[in-house]
Amino acid sequence: MKDMSVAVRVFAGLMTAAFVLASRDKADCPQQCVCEIRPWFSPTSVYMEAPTVDCNDLGLFLLPERLPADTQVLLLQTNNIASVTKALDYLSNITEINLSQNNLSSMAELALGSLPRLLSLHMEENWLGSLPNSCLAQLNGLQELYLNHNLLSNIAPGGFLGLWNLQRLHLNSNRLQAISSHWFQATPRLEILMIGENPIAKIQDMNFEPLTNLRSLVLARMNLSEIPDGALVGLDQLESISFYDNTFSRVPHGALKKVQSLKFLDLNKNPIQRIQRGDLADMLHLKEFGISSMPELVSIDSFALSNLPELSKIEATNNPKLSYIHPNAFHKLPRLETLMLNSNALSALHRITVESLPNLREVSMHSNPLRCDCVLRWVNMNRTRIRFMEPESLLCSEPPEFEGQRVRQVQVREMMEICLPLISPGSLPPVSACVTAVPCRCTAGPSLNPSPRSTGSRPPGSGSCPARSRTGTTCTPRGPSKSRASWSVKPGCTPASPTTWWAPTSDRCPWR
Ligand SMILES: *[C@@H]1O[C@H](CO)[C@@H](O)[C@H](O)[C@H]1NC(C)=O
Ligand SMILES: *[C@@H]1O[C@H](CO)[C@@H](O)[C@H](O)[C@H]1NC(C)=O
Ligand SMILES: *[C@@H]1O[C@H](CO)[C@@H](O)[C@H](O)[C@H]1NC(C)=O
Ligand SMILES: *[C@@H]1O[C@H](CO)[C@@H](O)[C@H](O)[C@H]1NC(C)=O
Ligand SMILES: *[C@@H]1O[C@H](CO)[C@@H](O)[C@H](O)[C@H]1NC(C)=O
Repeated sequence: MKDMSVAVRVFAGLMTAAFVLASRDKADCPQQCVCEIRPWFSPTSVYMEAPTVDCNDLGLFLLPERLPADTQVLLLQTNNIASVTKALDYLSNITEINLSQNNLSSMAELALGSLPRLLSLHMEENWLGSLPNSCLAQLNGLQELYLNHNLLSNIAPGGFLGLWNLQRLHLNSNRLQAISSHWFQATPRLEILMIGENPIAKIQDMNFEPLTNLRSLVLARMNLSEIPDGALVGLDQLESISFYDNTFSRVPHGALKKVQSLKFLDLNKNPIQRIQRGDLADMLHLKEFGISSMPELVSIDSFALSNLPELSKIEATNNPKLSYIHPNAFHKLPRLETLMLNSNALSALHRITVESLPNLREVSMHSNPLRCDCVLRWVNMNRTRIRFMEPESLLCSEPPEFEGQRVRQVQVREMMEICLPLISPGSLPPVSACVTAVPCRCTAGPSLNPSPRSTGSRPPGSGSCPARSRTGTTCTPRGPSKSRASWSVKPGCTPASPTTWWAPTSDRCPWR
């Protein structure tokens, strides 16, 4: 009897639900749109089951005349809507509106009304050119605002007035030529700011100063070659910064010093030539460092990464000129676990380098022109607890007898045999020896002061390496002299193709 009544009630419930859904579909769901309950996550990742009206991709020029009163999520993506003329404030529970990929060109055409519960507004991929003062002030609960991929060239100083709760702002891919710190005075809670791909001529001191809660800043593809030392002042909570695909020729360490809480630093795809001592000074919370796809990167210098107690991962891959990592490049990195060095121009990774990293677990070194001799012998000694990633691609490219063999298959003894004694720095050949060609492996770094700079359009170091870099250099002759010098590793002096550069013509002499 009891079971029976439960079954009846369940049945009755189902009928009611079906009726409600059906009636809504028929009565107030706009034609062609789909109205249903869908899972929805708030900007702070709270899960909800939200009454959703999906009018995506229907070729609409106008919003539907009337929407269901309980609408929480309104999807209008990919239509031709150029204006919203009827306020939506009869939708008391509306939390998200998606107007991305429409034909909006002016905020004046967007009369949404007062929507204090709106949390998320998507307007990316429209034609908006400017944001006047207070144009969004009636949406004062807004937490996420997407304005990326518009034509914004002008944002009034009070363009974001009223958005006290804004946490995420996407302004990337617009036409902004300057950043104003006035904008951000209205948005003190902002945590994520994407503003890359704008033709910003120059980042100014204090540009982001009001953003004391910002955690992530993306400044990708802005053609930035430098930023002033005060550019990041005020970003006391900043954890992540991306300078991806800019034109920095050196690490902007003056500015980075001002963001003490930084954990993730992305410098990928910048024409930086060297990572130098002091570049990452005082970054006590840095966890991950990315220097990949750097067309000009040649060297990671002695003590380049030093005293970074939290650093756990270095990713330096796909750097076609990176041929030199000083044996002491990494110093006091007690937490470093992962070292990604694949697809560079490295002929070796020194055992000292690896042994200086007490917590190292995995190394990726494949797709480098590795020279399988004594320097690399440690890889094969089975004493190392380190895991090599993709060991099947960890191949020797030199000497010729081991070319193409897997490093770990070459016998340790054989690697020993091709290892010749070190020549002390004092007995280094004089300059003329470059021309007479003594094949040699250099294991020390270039001098730091003055740092070698490329002059004119020459590749870095060719013909411009300071004589001082000889001091402290040890060399391993590589066997009988051939007619051609083959300095396998010469930091700061390594041009595009390290294996062919060593032709003994006087203007290419590494010691000049
Ligand atoms: C708005 O949401 C509240 C809480 O979920 C609900 O009680 C109320 O009925 C909703 N309003 C409308 C118009 O659906
Ligand atoms: C978009 O709006 C402009 C006016 O701002 C109008 O000229 C154009 O025809 C509209 N495009 C479409 C596809 O509706
Ligand atoms: C709104 O549009 C954006 C961009 O097209 C899309 O990434 C996002 O998932 C959409 N939101 C919803 C809830 O569909
Ligand atoms: C990038 O900046 C340089 C000067 O720093 C300028 O000559 C060049 O035109 C800029 N490129 C773009 C695409 O804006
Ligand atoms: C190292 O260990 C692997 C398997 O653990 C083994 O196949 C290989 O022969 C060992 N190499 C040396 C040099 O002992």
